Amino acid sequence: MSGIKIVTIGGGSSYTPELVEGFIKRYDELPVRELWLVDVPAGEKKLQIVGALAKRMVEKAGVPIQINLTLDRRKALEGADFVTTQIRVGLLDARVKDEKIPLKYGVIGQETNGPGGLFKGLRTIPVIMDICRDMDELCPDAWLINFTNPAGMVTEAVLRYTNRKKVIGLCNVPIGMKMGVASVLGVDQSRVHIDFAGLNHMVFGLGVFLDGENVTAKLIEKLSGDQSGITMKNILDLGWDKDFIKALGILPCPYHRYYYQTRTMLEHELEESQKSGTRAEVVKKVEEELFELYKDPDLSIKPPQLEKRGGAYYSEAACNLIHSIYNDKRDIQPVNVRNNGAIASIPDDSAVEVNCVITKEGPIPLAVGDLPVPVRGLVQQIKSFERVAAEAAVTGDYHQALLAMTINPLVPSDAIAKQILDEMLEAHKDYLPQFFKPVS
Ligand code: G6P
Repeated sequence: MSGIKIVTIGGGSSYTPELVEGFIKRYDELPVRELWLVDVPAGEKKLQIVGALAKRMVEKAGVPIQINLTLDRRKALEGADFVTTQIRVGLLDARVKDEKIPLKYGVIGQETNGPGGLFKGLRTIPVIMDICRDMDELCPDAWLINFTNPAGMVTEAVLRYTNRKKVIGLCNVPIGMKMGVASVLGVDQSRVHIDFAGLNHMVFGLGVFLDGENVTAKLIEKLSGDQSGITMKNILDLGWDKDFIKALGILPCPYHRYYYQTRTMLEHELEESQKSGTRAEVVKKVEEELFELYKDPDLSIKPPQLEKRGGAYYSEAACNLIHSIYNDKRDIQPVNVRNNGAIASIPDDSAVEVNCVITKEGPIPLAVGDLPVPVRGLVQQIKSFERVAAEAAVTGDYHQALLAMTINPLVPSDAIAKQILDEMLEAHKDYLPQFFKPVS
């Protein structure tokens, strides 16, 4: 059969119209034959709404992409070429808890960083591993492209605890940084190149180039002040201190604010959670609005309101990646892959987010050598956290989870780590069966 079969797990997500738009735009070079949107019963209503919009979108565009909606994951996976995962175990209610509980202890409450990130990983990794087992059976040659957060920790777990070699973790932060840099420099983004290296949500631009000229120092001059101009919709842009950013000398990602500006970010989170709720509570409202729009039978394009979400443009990254694998384009894209020595101070078998040459056989990471000394330690510490967290997610071992929580740089002490851990374990009990095995 000619054409490509794509399966999107978590297909009822409000982000799906982006993905559909991406496939429509690239149809000539990326002939998608079938797109299967898969969800769980709790997501069925959303799946039907978003699926109907997807069907209207392909019809309007006049491309022969067949859209299938199903709750039967195994049926969808049969013979797939690419599987994308965008799931949220426990839905947004779980994210509200991830963001709120740490705040009670004076600790950053964030979807992918600190205690929140740990718990999102603990809930998500076993489900993704299940998907990998199904893929090994039903579509062994397919690529797994994971957007599910925490994407770095999830990729780490797949690489180290499953048989799946064909896995790539993907994020919109690098593409967001590139767009931000282009707008700060006032140029088209096609003229910008960034040497990305680090981890997911912990990536740095080691060098920034405009038409091939290294403009890192020039760019850095422009990032100080009240706003840097480079952020994601979900992260407050505080700007960078002029002397600090100059001393750092490389481009941090928006998530670095949680590490370098912890106190201000915490104060802001506390204020927001009183005023308008945590980010997840804001997102819930945005989602409601989006799904109201999606229901409109006259809507047959991706509505611009989707750009209010932090993950905007993720499909740009996803479709570019699938396109380059399918067509063996051998262009350079930043993705999460097995390190294989690309970053010297990170274990070879760990996931890193780094520029890769994208080929039909998969991404080939470009060797970085080592990261600059001032950031090397933080990156290593987060990698240790991710490794221990992945082990905890797989084994359900309380002590590993405690270790992960305590070594996270956003958690100030072992006593606080333990309190947060215990409260969050209890709060997320329904989605953490590995920690609550019946005693035999
Ligand atoms: C950023 C991250 C994504 C994350 C999103 C959250 O863009 O890169 O990984 O999913 O923010 O956005 P939200 O609108 O859900 O807060």
